[in-house]
Amino acid sequence: MLNGEKITIENGKLKVPNAPILPFIEGDGIGVDIWPATRLVMEKAVEKAYGSGRKIIWKEIFAGEKAYKMTGNWLPGETLQAIREYVVAIKGPLTTPIGGGIRSINVALRQLLDLYACIRPVRYFGGVPSPLKEPQKLNVVIFRENTEDVYAGIEWASYTPEAEKVRNFLVNEMKVTIREGSAIGIKPMSPFASKRLARMALNYAKKTGRKTVTFMHKGNIMKFTEGAFRQWCYEVAENEFGDATFMESQLKEHGGKVPEGKILVNDRIADAMFQMVLLRPEEYSVIVTPNLDGDFLSDACAAQVGGLGMAPGANIGDTAACFEATHGTAPTHAGKDKANPTSLILSGVMMLEHLGWTEAAYLVINGIERTIAQKTVTYDLERQMSGATLLKSSEYADRIVANMG
Ligand code: NAI
Repeated sequence: MLNGEKITIENGKLKVPNAPILPFIEGDGIGVDIWPATRLVMEKAVEKAYGSGRKIIWKEIFAGEKAYKMTGNWLPGETLQAIREYVVAIKGPLTTPIGGGIRSINVALRQLLDLYACIRPVRYFGGVPSPLKEPQKLNVVIFRENTEDVYAGIEWASYTPEAEKVRNFLVNEMKVTIREGSAIGIKPMSPFASKRLARMALNYAKKTGRKTVTFMHKGNIMKFTEGAFRQWCYEVAENEFGDATFMESQLKEHGGKVPEGKILVNDRIADAMFQMVLLRPEEYSVIVTPNLDGDFLSDACAAQVGGLGMAPGANIGDTAACFEATHGTAPTHAGKDKANPTSLILSGVMMLEHLGWTEAAYLVINGIERTIAQKTVTYDLERQMSGATLLKSSEYADRIVANMG
């Protein structure tokens, strides 16, 4: 019998006991359907991979509607504290309260816990309906900055005293032209936040053997924010990963070849990047982006391989990590046992990989690949596939378990 223990961080590295206590937030809407499916698949994969040697001890924590009903608070302090204390957590989708005191629970969670990297792996599963001829060519991991950029939400509404004050300063003291009545948003980007993101992405590429790291930016136009982001990322690649990396600018003098074992580092302007993931997807692997560019690119890439229902996500900082489905609460389908749990299950796979439990992660991937190849899928995929069998969320999870290994 294994007793639950806390995951800890020692010298910047995760120390994972055999029975880690992992907090989970079920999530609103379809959370009641996709969370039990995910939990079952993860438990069975761990059991299959490690027998009685390892086990996840789940601990429910609350956010969103469930928390609001219980405590009158959308994001209770205890929930934040539990994620800090237990270091790794997983969550279903959460309703953004309309008229509530919080802009978005998801954004608040990321900012309050300083989960500075939003990580989205995007890959194709054979058989999933896609608008592309060769969707399998896209296999990227996007590292999107989570704490800065226009997304930080520093903005003032048109004709408010605050906007006027900022406008007066800019017009009178900084001598720039801004039309009367303009709403104003601020786009802060720091070397600190840009560099730690690049560092995490380069470390990831090194650890996983990915061959290319691309810095995406709109620095040709926004020179001092996104242009600097590009520069700061290159500085990390050159100064901290010099032994492991090879700059694209060096390619010519090396006959167009990347030396064996080195990671090719390059950068692309954001608009070109959107073309590249469509036209030459196989040339890209790890992509590092500021917050807003990354928001757009993540969903565009997810659409290429079959949509948000298939795309997992993680928000990771130096002291905590929270894994989550990328879609919302799909309220019209809530409680009907019909929603597609793949996005949350794949987020669970990322969590298993984060713990270093790669054997269990592999079993889940294997189960999903086979289940989709057998055309036994939930309604969203079934209606687009010919000859497919329609399964409930729970039946789909059972099928993945049966197909593991
Ligand atoms: P949504 O992602 O809930 O739904 C968009 C469309 O995708 C709908 O047609 C929905 O039925 C479908 N869909 C989503 N997930 C699905 C799944 N797993 N299986 C099958 N179909 C699925 O986005 P929407 O409608 O804009 O937002 C609804 C609520 O979710 C809002 O309160 C929003 O704030 C919240 N939200 C939460 C997120 C999170 O917790 N990370 C992310 C996005 C939205």
